[in-house]
Amino acid sequence: MNAPDAPGALRRNAPWPSPKLAPALAEKYLNIEDLRQGAKKRLPRGVFEFIDRGSEDEASLRDNRASFHRIKLRNRVMVDVSARSTQMELFGKPMSMPLAIAPTGAAGLAWYEGELELARAAARAGVPFTLATPSLTAIERIASVEEGRKWFQLYMWRDRDASHALVRRARDAGFETLIVTGDTAVPPIREYNKRNGFNSPFTFNPTIVADVATSPGWMWRVLRPYLQNGGMPRQAHYPSDEKGVQVRMVGGAEKLRGDNLCWDDIARLREIWKGPILVKGVHQPDDAERGVKEGVDGIIISNHGGRNLDTAVASLDVLPEIVAAVGDKLVVIADSGIRRGGDILKALALGAKCVLSGRPTLYGAAVAGQDGAMHALALLRRELDTAMAYTGAIRIEEITAKCLWMGNQ
Ligand SMILES: Cc1cc2nc3c(=O)[nH]c(=O)nc-3n(C[C@H](O)[C@H](O)[C@H](O)COP(=O)(O)O)c2cc1C
Repeated sequence: MNAPDAPGALRRNAPWPSPKLAPALAEKYLNIEDLRQGAKKRLPRGVFEFIDRGSEDEASLRDNRASFHRIKLRNRVMVDVSARSTQMELFGKPMSMPLAIAPTGAAGLAWYEGELELARAAARAGVPFTLATPSLTAIERIASVEEGRKWFQLYMWRDRDASHALVRRARDAGFETLIVTGDTAVPPIREYNKRNGFNSPFTFNPTIVADVATSPGWMWRVLRPYLQNGGMPRQAHYPSDEKGVQVRMVGGAEKLRGDNLCWDDIARLREIWKGPILVKGVHQPDDAERGVKEGVDGIIISNHGGRNLDTAVASLDVLPEIVAAVGDKLVVIADSGIRRGGDILKALALGAKCVLSGRPTLYGAAVAGQDGAMHALALLRRELDTAMAYTGAIRIEEITAKCLWMGNQ
């Protein structure tokens, strides 16, 4: 019997501060797909598709979800799970659940200053927030959100001095973890962006104007405050001569090209950054081993949410072999396709310490800003809690391969 007040027992999940809108959101949006549908209604088509869709034939995008459905869970019966908790520690600090908000360049198009709202939601929920290089809100404004853990994601530019200066800014602003994205050497191929008139750099053209005109709510809630407070939204960290929102997050201008990033860069970054460094986009066990040699603290297994290399393998499919190679030497994190708390449990059962989640909080932010993002996190945590109860895991560390049935793979 694990009575919650027994010595050494876990603290039950503390209820999160309930946002003003929580009851209304909880009534209407029962899962992440509901939030996705809500986002689809509210955003101009070009913005929604930029957030929602994948690259080329979108095979990876679809397979990311299928990979979670291929793996089944097993009940664990007759154990007292009344004291279960989703809390855990990562890099020596507590988190309310094993999830961090992934870097996404488009939060500021989902909601006015969307990155700030995501950072606030993450702080309230007790999970880290990652600010992306191409975000519309600057490092220092995010740092003004006093609570919460902040991570910074780097797209390394050909102009190393500019990139290193950005990393120093994030360090000086108190960001704790640096994610170096390694899977975006060149801009990916996403044909719908072109069809939607969503070119890089973003400019108003007849297709976009017609699209935006069908979303007066978005114009009012998102575009109007930008225009009233300094003009068209633009990426806050890009050199000032790169005007406008870049739909391509790397490439375009010569100095923003990202195709010469290599392992040698880690040593230089390590001189600047004393906190944890993670390399994102890893699929190969020997890349993970190279990461160990270069002294990185973790890797993120990811196919960029199906947005970059199409038909790239799903993270779950390569997780076991990578964990077998390096799981005891660095922190293995996974992302791409998580839409349910049970998906988090599956990634952990295969050896990930934590997951990143990209689109779920963007959908939430598009629906209701900070409260919507918070609601997305609350849904995922509740589902994780439920899956833990059924699989008999009281603590996060008790989520192991025994929770899974891998089938005829
Ligand atoms: C709209 C959008 C923008 C993104 N921008 C970045 C980025 O700037 N840097 C980066 O490393 N990853 C970026 N990603 C990828 C996410 O960090 C993450 O790997 C992915 O979203 C995980 O898949 P999920 O959306 O299915 O959770 C972006 C993802 C989305 C959806």
